[in-house]
Parts: sequence; structure tokens; C-alpha cells
Amino acid sequence: MTQVIELTQVSKVYNGGAAQTALDGISMSVASGEFVAVMGPSGSGKSTLLNMVAGLDRPTSGRVCVGGRDLTGLSEGELAKFRRTHVGIVFQFFHLLNDLTVLDNVLVAAELAGIKRSAARQQATALLARLEIADKADVYPAELSGGQRQRVAIARALVNRPPLLLADEPTGALDSRSGDQIMELIAAINASGQTVVLVTHDAKLAARHAQRVISMSDGRIVDDAVLEPAAGTRSLLTFQREEARR
Ligand SMILES: Nc1ncnc2c1ncn2[C@@H]1O[C@H](COP(=O)(O)OP(=O)(O)O)[C@@H](O)[C@H]1O
Ligand SMILES: [Mg+2]
Repeated sequence: MTQVIELTQVSKVYNGGAAQTALDGISMSVASGEFVAVMGPSGSGKSTLLNMVAGLDRPTSGRVCVGGRDLTGLSEGELAKFRRTHVGIVFQFFHLLNDLTVLDNVLVAAELAGIKRSAARQQATALLARLEIADKADVYPAELSGGQRQRVAIARALVNRPPLLLADEPTGALDSRSGDQIMELIAAINASGQTVVLVTHDAKLAARHAQRVISMSDGRIVDDAVLEPAAGTRSLLTFQREEARR
């Protein structure tokens, strides 16, 4: 199976007052089409991990490959181009541009990626319809609910048809009903073929939608479990330990 994400011994040390090891030798891969949830306590390195995969930040050591490309050697310009074409990113607090309408928020991302305005407009309009906010195309983010803003952010993340969707606590700022709807949307996006990596605090949401749960603690992966809807949870690490004992 094609690996969309491949991390090899990735470490990240932030240099503030005291050096802070946010990622401590992470190796893992994600195959095309997977829906992976990343869980763990606050400060365990989830956002740092996602930022490495998104090409928003660079590791201190180790190798990050996404879509078969080694990000480690890319220049800033190449990395920016990679972000515009290979990944869609959704954040907890939406990060919309408040001076632009809903449609323009989505179009900006397409234009930055070099897509022609007419094609971009068509794709953006189709996405807003699919996300059930077509009637909000000409309003400004301030007039929208949190759930609607996150739909706009998802449309923006998808407009360039990236093979990989990354979401960092996308339901964290939403009431539970809007959060459920956003998760249903992300699950539907995954069902249509997109690989999804989702950081969440919510074990219930993860169990309901993801096929695999990676658990982090202190910058390390402490569990990697494939969820089998019929048979319940099976821990890969437990499985490997049992295999090693045989
Ligand atoms: N820009 C930064 N500068 C310094 N330390 C950071 C920075 N970002 C994150 N950290 C630290 O790295 C660790 C992991 O943070 P983060 O990846 O945000 O965890 P999580 O998303 O799981 O809450 C934490 O100890 C955090 O304080
Ligand atoms: Mg975080």
C-alpha cells in the first residue's frame, strides 16, 4: 500500500528559555485512504506532529516524507508550494480572513495554488454546496456560527483537492452538535478517498469515526491501535508484544 506519510526518527526540540523536547524520535506511517486519530494529553506533541506533516515546521532531526516527497531537503519556497498543493489543514479556531467573504476565503487558497479563477470559482461553489453553506457565499465570517466557520475552513482546505487532510482539534471550539456534524463531514470526505489525520481530545469521536488511533505522551507514540468496528479495539503494540513472545 502507498504510504502517504512516513516519519523516521523525527525529533523536535523547541529552543525557548529551557529547551523543550516536543517530539522524541517518532517513527510511523499512514497509508493512502486511512482515517487516523491522534490522541494524547495537552502538551504531548500532537500539534507539533501535525505541523511537521503539514510542512509548517521542520524537525530538529529525522525525516518527514509526505506523498513520497522528502520535506527535509525542501527550501522555504518549495515547502510553501508543497503546502498549497499536497495538504489541506483545518485548525481549532478556523483561521479565516475576516475581511473577505466566505467565497473569497476559499478562492484565495485556490489562487495561491495557481488555479484559474473560473475553475476555482466552480470548485469553491461546489464545495460550499456540498458543505451546505452555499447560501453563505457572500457573507463575512463574523456573521457565521462556529460550525459554519469550520465548514468554510474545510472548503478552503479542500479546494485544491489535496490528497491529505490534516485537522487539529477541529471540533474543539464547537458545541457538541456542530462538532458531530463536522466529524460526519470529515468522515464523508475520508469515505470519498481522502486520507485524514485528525488530532482530537475526544475519545468518543475518535472511536466513532477513525479506523486507527495513535496515542501520544511526552513526545512519543505510546499506542497505535487499529479499530475494528465488529471486533472492538485491537492494540497494534499489544499484538506486536504478543508476537515477540511467541
Ligand atoms: N512554538 C513553541 N515554542 C516552544 N515550545 C513549544 C512550542 N510549541 C509547542 N511547544 C511545547 O512543545 C510541547 C508539545 O506541544 P504541542 O505539540 O502543542 O502539544 P499538544 O498539541 O499535544 O497539546 C509542549 O510542551 C509545548 O509547550
Ligand atoms: Mg495542540
